[in-house]
Amino acid sequence: MTIVLMIILAYLLGSIPTGLIIGKAFFKTDIREHGSGNLGGTNTFRVLGKPAGIIVSLIDILKGTAAVLLPLLPFFAETAIHPLILGAVAVIGHMYPIFAGFRGGKAVATSAGVLLGYNWVFFVILLGLFFLLLKLTKMVSLTSILLAIIAFLMAVGSHFLIEPDIALILLITVLMIFIVYRHRANISRIRQGTEPKITWI
Ligand code: G3P
Repeated sequence: MTIVLMIILAYLLGSIPTGLIIGKAFFKTDIREHGSGNLGGTNTFRVLGKPAGIIVSLIDILKGTAAVLLPLLPFFAETAIHPLILGAVAVIGHMYPIFAGFRGGKAVATSAGVLLGYNWVFFVILLGLFFLLLKLTKMVSLTSILLAIIAFLMAVGSHFLIEPDIALILLITVLMIFIVYRHRANISRIRQGTEPKITWI
């Protein structure tokens, strides 16, 4: 029974619509009606500015981290569930939040938070690559898709070269599919050359 409770909690954590809460509370704006229409840090940044974008991105990351760390709570200590399952559920909550009409984000920040909670070394490497790729591409969407593919290659490499972890490969495969699927509109804009580029890096 506690497994079901943990899964529900992970989904509810992921469902917290950070961009919507910050947008409505401080700017009286539903960011889904502006910019790309996405309920994520990038669109918050675009519509509401840098401080709001940074805060939303950080909280969206921490949602994934908190879900992965749920088994550390004493109440759940005896429950046998792989933390990455909870992470994947949190990402589903972030994409399809019950608190925001199931219109959520594109899986990137919360997926990053899952990695932070599970393997912080992966997170730090990917964070460094994020800024490098962003500088080169100037597109958060393209950077996110490339990072999902790089994370998959890193998981496979680390499985064979450092420590076997098939669960991490499976999780990253699932997250990569989520991320590419949720960026469908971005992918067609990138192909047409109309995807917005950022100017601050
Ligand atoms: O994390 C989402 C980002 O990759 C793209 O966001 O608003 O440009 O579609 P957006």
